[in-house]
Amino acid sequence: MCGITGYIGSGSAIEITINNLKRLEYRGYDSAGVAYSSTDAVSIVRAPGKIKNLEALLPTSVEGIGVAIAHTRWATHGRPCEENAHPHRDCTGQLAVVHNGIIENYAELRRELIAKGHEFASETDTETLAHLIEEMCALEGDCDKTEGVANAIRKALHHVKGSYALAVISQDSPDTVFVARKESPLIIGLGEGENFIASDIPAVMRYTRNVVLLEDGDFAILTPNSVTITDFEGNPLERKPFLVTWDDAAAEKGGNAHFMIKEIYENPRTVRETLRGRLMDDGEIVLPSLPFSAEQWQAFRRISIVACGTAYHAGVVGKSFFEQLLRRPVEVNVASEFRYSDPILDKETLVVLISQSGETADTLAAMREAQHKGATTLAIVNVVGSTLARDADAVLLTQAGPEIGVASTKAYLAQLTALYLLGLYLARHDASGNSRLTEAEYHSYVSALRELPAQIEAIITQEASYSQLAEELAKHHCFFYLGRRYDFASSLEAALKMKEISYIHAEAYPAGEMKHGPLALVEPGVAVVGFCTQPDTNEKMVSNLKEVKAREGTIITVIREGDETPDCADYTLSVPITKEAFMPLLSMVPMQLLAYHVARTLGCEIDQPRNLAKSVTVE
Ligand code: G6P
Repeated sequence: MCGITGYIGSGSAIEITINNLKRLEYRGYDSAGVAYSSTDAVSIVRAPGKIKNLEALLPTSVEGIGVAIAHTRWATHGRPCEENAHPHRDCTGQLAVVHNGIIENYAELRRELIAKGHEFASETDTETLAHLIEEMCALEGDCDKTEGVANAIRKALHHVKGSYALAVISQDSPDTVFVARKESPLIIGLGEGENFIASDIPAVMRYTRNVVLLEDGDFAILTPNSVTITDFEGNPLERKPFLVTWDDAAAEKGGNAHFMIKEIYENPRTVRETLRGRLMDDGEIVLPSLPFSAEQWQAFRRISIVACGTAYHAGVVGKSFFEQLLRRPVEVNVASEFRYSDPILDKETLVVLISQSGETADTLAAMREAQHKGATTLAIVNVVGSTLARDADAVLLTQAGPEIGVASTKAYLAQLTALYLLGLYLARHDASGNSRLTEAEYHSYVSALRELPAQIEAIITQEASYSQLAEELAKHHCFFYLGRRYDFASSLEAALKMKEISYIHAEAYPAGEMKHGPLALVEPGVAVVGFCTQPDTNEKMVSNLKEVKAREGTIITVIREGDETPDCADYTLSVPITKEAFMPLLSMVPMQLLAYHVARTLGCEIDQPRNLAKSVTVE
């Protein structure tokens, strides 16, 4: 995920911003750049790859440079390369911009600006901001002073849809850094005769522990001795500084003990970002990155979903959802099996490959096999510059940002969100007459999608109760996770989370299969998590759980808020109600929290579990 740093003061601005930028490296990036203001110009230096490539290009004499903004870019719009790296400039070269987030209406703005004569040098959404501010300056004609530049930026932001943390420097107001925030984090570090900006607190901690956390809709003007915060209309706002008391290691994880819990907390944002720019205000879904015509979509008679690990579990949900909506045969396969199974594929097959990293060897081999056999490949992938993203015929990006904990959490929710969008999009544009999706159902799915982020937030507020339950559950030596249909998909992923970080044996079973063998293992000390979120099969689920209860297993049920608690349950977790197909997304959040707290109780290595790797690039 992109990172921003900035400095204004009497220190060496370039050195300080680059030092601070290094503290954001953990977020992942593929290029870096810095803009600085010297006596008569705004200069920029950018480089693909690591910050050390950028450092090699920086001026050796940095005396007198007291203003700089810097950026690490994690590509979303446009390839990772020097031209697309931030900062971006306007046509005059007097203004430089760094940005995190997504400008949803950038294509439209870019077209308008080009029509007005602006020349673009990159493929990014961010560059639009630089030209838009330039345009506002030209309209207002008073950009030779700080207030003029501030007004132009605020006016420009009124035309922008999307999310942003933004920093701007301008030669028209050389002793100033301008920043704005909407749904993308940005903090200000307060110093003595100097001030800092950054995406995240750890970046500035070496210099100050006194920080202001900007809120959505905040605009700020920084000079060496002042920070003025207003809304986008210019009305003054009060933001109280906050004293950071964390140690350095905790700071990198946003004050959390582990990346995994930080990433669980990022679930709501991840879902919002994956919906952003795709689920429009009028309820339509647009997927501009998919280059297929309506006829091409119709020509795909079969869909085959292929992935590994957590991504495969997302695919299991995808299969049920696609079949439910599209009424076309959909298979889901583990990539390592698929590639050696001589799969039946032809040009009428769409192969959907799901991967967080985009580098999993088996998933890549499956893509090659599919392409070799003439199928069309569509990658649902989180890392833009990855091999899968580059080589698949079409790409639907998940917007989870970098995931560092080996146990995948937010990427799973992003993958589900992308699959829901794709399934609904295909069903809505289905001309074959197979789809059963009515207009009213479509809109009820859309409303449910919009509610998901707030529902996840509500689950996360219950964390204390999961951590209490985890202390009890950590005493068990074996876990079974049971469910039917969508709930079985949840069982697979929940069992994986528990086993990979707590090292307790955990297995998922379709609930109806328990009697065919695994029930023999149930005894005291065995915990059985039963998902009961699907009204059609809940009665059967409860019968299956009673069979477990009779063998003295501990029963934990996952139910929908407001549903009756099964009387066989020793513990019950309730999650907000959504569409049945979306329940796996909500059900997984308590399961991630539970696995995390069981592993913590047992003192396990959470972010890097033994024997496992984040990206499996060998067979
Ligand atoms: C590894 C990771 C899992 C991940 C799987 C697939 O096993 O530890 O978290 O689900 O690889 O990775 P991918 O990057 O293709 O989603």
